[in-house]
Amino acid sequence: MKHIYQQGSRPEAPTLVLFHGTGGTEHDLLGLAGRIAPGAAVLSLRGNVLENGMPRFFRRLAEGVFDEEDLIFRTKEVYDFLDEAAAKYGFDRNHLVAVGYSNGANIIGSLLFHYARAFRGAILHHPMVPRRGIELPDASGLPVFIGAGKNDPICTPQETEDLQALLSGAGADVTVHWESYGHQLTPSEAAAASSWFAEHFGGGDSR
Ligand code: MLT
Repeated sequence: MKHIYQQGSRPEAPTLVLFHGTGGTEHDLLGLAGRIAPGAAVLSLRGNVLENGMPRFFRRLAEGVFDEEDLIFRTKEVYDFLDEAAAKYGFDRNHLVAVGYSNGANIIGSLLFHYARAFRGAILHHPMVPRRGIELPDASGLPVFIGAGKNDPICTPQETEDLQALLSGAGADVTVHWESYGHQLTPSEAAAASSWFAEHFGGGDSR
């Protein structure tokens, strides 16, 4: 998969794995990653699917209607790529925190729904429920941050609440941060994600 890898200056920090939203690229979330975990190594992926020229991480049939077969295929593709990238760059495959926005948050959600221990933690900005009607793997103690908008027309409050319930039901430790806006990732939501990260994985202070 097309990607950027940036080595970190803090070997004890988890490697952040970044997933952009529809129409984005592997460059989009680098600034956010620097804010969430200064000094952490970063692996930023570009989705392999194109929708009218816009990169995505899996196909959809319509707005909010996912192509499940492709979603499952792409989820495995990312999972396998993480193994390959860990071998190539020498980061710890078992010490990854995923950060994604919108479509990127949805592929992370799908990884959590299909694989136990895909990540050590996850920051999901404006996610939906990736699949319904399946049993989730054990996610005991997995810290998950969800950033959501009360007026988000794409990732509705109901989707957020359903996702929270499903992940919590699998044992995850889910924190939901609500904004009163729509689908955008606001500075205050990014700040909340940074605080959550510092609380669960340590701060960016390299002293
Ligand atoms: C998706 O297709 O993953 C969601 O609708 C969010 C988006 O617009 O990318």
